[in-house]
Amino acid sequence: MGKIILTGDRPTGKLHLGHYVGSLKRRVELQNSGEYDKIFIMIADAQALTDNADNPEKVRQNILEVALDYLSCGLDPAKSTLFIQSMVPQLTELTVYYMNLVTVSRLQRNPTVKSEIQMRNFEASIPVGFFTYPISQAADITAFRATTVPAGEDQMPMVEQTREIVHKFNSVYGETLTMPNILLPENQVCMRLPGTDGKAKMSKSLGNCIYLSDEPKDIKKKIMSMYTDPNHIRVEDPGQVEGNTVFTYLDAFCRPEHFAEFWPDYANLDEVKEHYQRGGLGDVKVKKFLNKVLEAELAPIRARRKEFEKDIPAVYEILKKGSEIARAEAEKTLHDVRDAMQINYFDDMELIAEQAEKYGK
Ligand code: TRP
Repeated sequence: MGKIILTGDRPTGKLHLGHYVGSLKRRVELQNSGEYDKIFIMIADAQALTDNADNPEKVRQNILEVALDYLSCGLDPAKSTLFIQSMVPQLTELTVYYMNLVTVSRLQRNPTVKSEIQMRNFEASIPVGFFTYPISQAADITAFRATTVPAGEDQMPMVEQTREIVHKFNSVYGETLTMPNILLPENQVCMRLPGTDGKAKMSKSLGNCIYLSDEPKDIKKKIMSMYTDPNHIRVEDPGQVEGNTVFTYLDAFCRPEHFAEFWPDYANLDEVKEHYQRGGLGDVKVKKFLNKVLEAELAPIRARRKEFEKDIPAVYEILKKGSEIARAEAEKTLHDVRDAMQINYFDDMELIAEQAEKYGK
């Protein structure tokens, strides 16, 4: 049994730099590492609907946006199966069976769901589907026998919940499901890129995102108005790099070769930081450098996106093919699950014979 990846995103908006450093970039590297036998990347529309039930149009529109973002970052349908969650109904059936293995109080303890409930003011009336989405996420992961779930730390409680379900299922019904592990981002900066306003997280509702599909002029504008050190007023003032968004982004994106190319006055980022801290280096210069660094990263992504945008039906075809592959894969697991739970009545010759016997043929 090989190594299998499953991961995905809710299609509630275009993907931004936070998604890129936190997960997309890594997925492409994992895809191209050749270390994984199968890779499934899911557009989690059913999960998106758990808190957007009254706005299916938003989810519908963003399926394509997310697919374009995936493809433009280098996810390759020849190597990774890209699919839509709701097109794999086997996931729903698995969810129903797993629901019997999880208690309400266990779901109530999920820290990610807890904070999402707060953010959405759901306290008084939580939709059942939303409350139980960690169980459906366990179905997503186990349906593909995923060994590895590359995801951010906010997904840790979901993978933990999945592991508990796998353990419980296997001990009640016999060894059937594969135990998954989360694969967290490698470095601290990638764990969570702050918004351009310096707030902890990029979020569409805060309007502090740089999108993968943004045009160069919009990115430049966003960078030029980025939060830095509020006490670094005159160029001569000593500046702080900790909590300074421009430097956090440079930590995430800048590579040694960028200096020779874009800013030969300095040999590396440490030298820039030192100068900034000492005083005498203005924000604008650092921001201009960041803009060049980001442009180097994003230009090829934007170019690939433009290519895929020329043939949208082909993008849907990729998702359709992927969904067919995903369905076949999930069906195999569902078959094993039904066997293990002994709810495979019509295939169960022993059951039929036994009962026929009981009734005297
Ligand atoms: N919860 C993930 C998000 O909010 C999306 C998701 C659904 C997912 N099912 C998954 C991620 C399974 C990893 C594995 O983006």
